[in-house]
Amino acid sequence: MSVTAVSRPEPCILVIFGATGDLTQRKLYPALINLAAQGRLPEHFAVVAVGRREKTDALVREEAKRAAAAAGAAPAVIAEAEGLLKRLHYFQMDFDVEAAYPSLRSRLAGLDAEYNTQGNRIYFLAVAPQYFGSIADYLYRQGMTANQGAWQRVVVEKPFGRNLPSARQLNARLTQAFGERRVYRIDHYLGKEMLQNLMVIRFANTLFEPLWNGRFIEEVQISINETVGVGSRGGYYDGAGALRDMVQNHMLQLLTLTAMEPPVDLDADSIRDEKVKVLRSLRPLEAADLATSVIRGQYGPGIIDGKPVVGYREEERVDPNSNTETYVALKLHIDNFRWSGVPFYLRTGKRLPVRSSEIVIRFREQPGVLYFGKGYSELGPNLLVIKIQPEEGVFLQFNARQPGTQGTIVPVRMDYCQNCGTGLDSPEAYERLLADVMRGDSTLFTRWDEVEYAWEFVDQIAGYWEQAGTPVEIYPAGSWGPEGADRLLARNGHRWILPFQCLLTDRPGFEGIGAGPMVESGPFEDSKEPS
Ligand code: BG6
Repeated sequence: MSVTAVSRPEPCILVIFGATGDLTQRKLYPALINLAAQGRLPEHFAVVAVGRREKTDALVREEAKRAAAAAGAAPAVIAEAEGLLKRLHYFQMDFDVEAAYPSLRSRLAGLDAEYNTQGNRIYFLAVAPQYFGSIADYLYRQGMTANQGAWQRVVVEKPFGRNLPSARQLNARLTQAFGERRVYRIDHYLGKEMLQNLMVIRFANTLFEPLWNGRFIEEVQISINETVGVGSRGGYYDGAGALRDMVQNHMLQLLTLTAMEPPVDLDADSIRDEKVKVLRSLRPLEAADLATSVIRGQYGPGIIDGKPVVGYREEERVDPNSNTETYVALKLHIDNFRWSGVPFYLRTGKRLPVRSSEIVIRFREQPGVLYFGKGYSELGPNLLVIKIQPEEGVFLQFNARQPGTQGTIVPVRMDYCQNCGTGLDSPEAYERLLADVMRGDSTLFTRWDEVEYAWEFVDQIAGYWEQAGTPVEIYPAGSWGPEGADRLLARNGHRWILPFQCLLTDRPGFEGIGAGPMVESGPFEDSKEPS
């Protein structure tokens, strides 16, 4: 499989709605500055940051530099981006008022002439979701989505709706203005390096692909564990919860990339067609599954990194009686040939002891004919861990005889890390995503039918919780989440597999993290490296 050739993007103006917002400051400015320093922006290019407050170009340029420095850009990188900073302009307007749009249109036309950007536009909606639809309507009605002989694209952040009906309404407005092919729905997880690597690991290795099915795989666990709490986002989060915030998008994207069939080609639609087939094969959850196979939890007060932290209900802008979940664990099945009989366990939560996102493939165990009953120890499982963050790479656990013993079989590990060591920092997801929008490559963005099927799946759960009044199970911050999540797996004779950092007990900072009833490492608890 060869790497897709990267073409230099065409001329365009990037218009960022929400210039003062958190996303622009934390992600977009740093990503643009890095792209500029690497010479990956179009030759003819400008950025227009749109916001309500009064600001000068000089001020936003300073803000962009500060944002890049805060994100870790070296002074030399920022200096390299000087050319971009001169092309960063501010435009003050109330983007919720249609009458303000004609003057934006003239400003953009003026910049086209100045920078030879040829009428091409990327509108990045880095604003609160309630404005997505109206901005698209105004751009459309003011003729800003149909420049003659040019292209216009729109980038929308999550959340894409709150449920299927609201997502449909939003989609109708966006596609009226831009058409499906020019709508880029961000799921920043798709920009993460290991997600792009997952297809290569699966499909470019004879070692894995033939085993990647229910005959050889016992279970799949997909986890996004966070140590952070809800922070300053309580206003949004309390109305969303982990199911909408994480499962509907990031978790289901990880699932589709793990489970999909090989695509016929590497173009955006071939890949997305396969992802959609996975979503279409999700077994609908019956009432009994909804009651027992989906666990919702909420963090209470506890300890993170040795420091006390407040419970979710005491967080800023959160209802003190909130029943919003900050943790979800669920079991699902994919009803197709490949995955028949394999449970997929998904879990995500805030205020857990370790930050780690990973996909664990646990292979079926060998019958052990040769080794059972002959003084050999029990065999541990073969595990393949796709490490998404903080470390990126692959971790493989297999069995070997401990040297110098009669017949002690121990699990041993091969650990590949692609971002360990200095100078190996992977590009930030937003760098890749912005570069792709500029090149018109939508592979790493979600297509409407993916969003639609994902909402359909999630709505069954949200609807059940609402109707049944399912309470959240409180777990102490710094613990591994509600006990119900353990019982969920125990029913199938499974247990959560520790994040790989915790398996490596010799790593500084991770000693003892695995302690406690939630995380006994089960079949491989005595899995120390042979000495
Ligand atoms: C966002 C969610 O989409 O993803 C946040 O809204 C979550 O609640 C974040 O913290 C996690 O992303 P990452 O890249 O830090 O794993």
